[in-house]
Amino acid sequence: MKKLTTYFLLCLFPFAQAIATDTEQLKQNSRAAAKALGGELKGVLQASMKASGPVKSLSVCRDSAPAIASKVSASKGLEVGRTSLKYRNANNKPDAWETAVLQKFEQRKAMGEAADKLEFSEVTEHNGNKVFRYMKAIPTGDVCLKCHGSNIAEPIKAELDKLYPGDRARDFSKGDIRGAFTVIHPL
Ligand code: HEC
Repeated sequence: MKKLTTYFLLCLFPFAQAIATDTEQLKQNSRAAAKALGGELKGVLQASMKASGPVKSLSVCRDSAPAIASKVSASKGLEVGRTSLKYRNANNKPDAWETAVLQKFEQRKAMGEAADKLEFSEVTEHNGNKVFRYMKAIPTGDVCLKCHGSNIAEPIKAELDKLYPGDRARDFSKGDIRGAFTVIHPL
């Protein structure tokens, strides 16, 4: 009996190791996707803010964000996007799993973890399929306050009211968790 158990354990060991390596690989891929999306968005936003100012940049943000997310998703074979407990675009509304992770991020930050280091991943079910999910928090920086802060200039505010009547993504302060990158990897 003991021999049999040892045999089973020896057989399982390589599988367990393979799963661990796979998960690490998936995490690396997800990190790379979040970084690519974040980097491209930042580039587009900075260029547009410089060339045409914040009011025009709102629509650039609105049109570019989903397009860049689709492009990065296709190139990496996964689904990457952004979400937030206080979202601006209802397309970015978190599902139950994302809501729970975002709430955990808030708790972890309150316990002293740095907002730019917060990440979480898990193998779970999504729409009946087994998937690997990953999230990484996005901290609020100075430049973000122009459009997400509590003192938004009048022309930006008017444009926001027009484009996003149910906007929740205001009243953030520097250092707050603005939201998170979110990745779903089919398994
Ligand atoms: C020029 C105004 C502007 C600036 C500056 C800006 N944003 Fe946004 N942000 C927007 C708009 C508009 C949307 C909605 C985009 C859409 O419709 O998909 C948005 C959406 C988001 C979302 C997606 C979740 C949601 O609320 O729908 C995140 C996350 C986000 N912004 C983070 C940031 C961060 C972090 C910064 C600073 C580095 C920043 N934003 C700077 C205008 C801005």
